[in-house]
Amino acid sequence: MKLNGKSVVVTGASSGMGKAIVERFAKEGANIIAVARRKERLDELAEALKDNGGRVIPFVGDVSKEEIMNEAIDLAVKEFGRLDILVNNAGIMDDMSPIGDVKNEKIEQVFAVNVYGPMYSMRKAVQVFLEQGDGGNIINVASLGAMRTAAGAVYGASKAAIVSLTKNTAYMYMPNGIRCNAIAPGGIVTEISTSMGMPNMNGYNRVKNVMATAPAPGSAEQIASAALFLASDDSSYVNGDVLLVDGGWAAG
Ligand SMILES: NC(=O)c1ccc[n+]([C@@H]2O[C@H](COP(=O)([O-])OP(=O)(O)OC[C@H]3O[C@@H](n4cnc5c(N)ncnc54)[C@H](OP(=O)(O)O)[C@@H]3O)[C@@H](O)[C@H]2O)c1
Repeated sequence: MKLNGKSVVVTGASSGMGKAIVERFAKEGANIIAVARRKERLDELAEALKDNGGRVIPFVGDVSKEEIMNEAIDLAVKEFGRLDILVNNAGIMDDMSPIGDVKNEKIEQVFAVNVYGPMYSMRKAVQVFLEQGDGGNIINVASLGAMRTAAGAVYGASKAAIVSLTKNTAYMYMPNGIRCNAIAPGGIVTEISTSMGMPNMNGYNRVKNVMATAPAPGSAEQIASAALFLASDDSSYVNGDVLLVDGGWAAG
């Protein structure tokens, strides 16, 4: 088992990639605090994985709140004795608006979940890692949309912020043995489109040209495989990287 006894916090664990990451990590022996807002989903996940490797503890909360992320990481330390790995996966889409149409409410909503949440959790995780004194591992879920236009202005900017935050953290804490990498998925079959609402048609009509070049969508399990690579010692010399998992979309 590649994560035997590791203490992990995974955000956005109630569906899509986060759920697949919890399933894969638990089977590899990890003990996991599974964070999201939908309690029933998290309870079902924990129940399903009960006899299947590590422990999974549901933690219900909004990742955009600093106190929630602090509590989730404190819970990992309390229950599992330490923190080894943080996976910032929770995220929401924008409505595909180009900058000329963007509403303040959308900027605030998307940045709160996609950027502020990871900043709060990374700050807390790094403090715990430094106190423990033996390194640590952070995996952020960015997007192909950080590098090219796959959604609206706000979503792309939020994911570009995550790429920058990933590289900065990798460099700053390199001497402390803390690794920080990101995954940039292409199009993956999940429930993410439910967070989009009604698309802005100016943006949608431009983005659909980019979408037309996409390969068949990938699965959440394929992202979980990439996350397992980054979480395990198989990637021990990988730091500050953005691993593109897009079936070749960006190569076109
Ligand atoms: N699917 C794609 O094609 C694609 C491509 C590139 C990048 N991504 C990124 O991949 C990540 C995972 O998304 P997904 O595709 O797996 O979508 P998903 O199925 O919609 O899952 C999103 C998860 O985030 C959680 N979440 C959303 N807002 C939250 C909040 N305020 N507090 C706590 N949890 C919250 C949701 O749980 P609750 O609703 O229960 O809170 C859910 O578990 C996101 O960061 C997304 O931007 C997705």
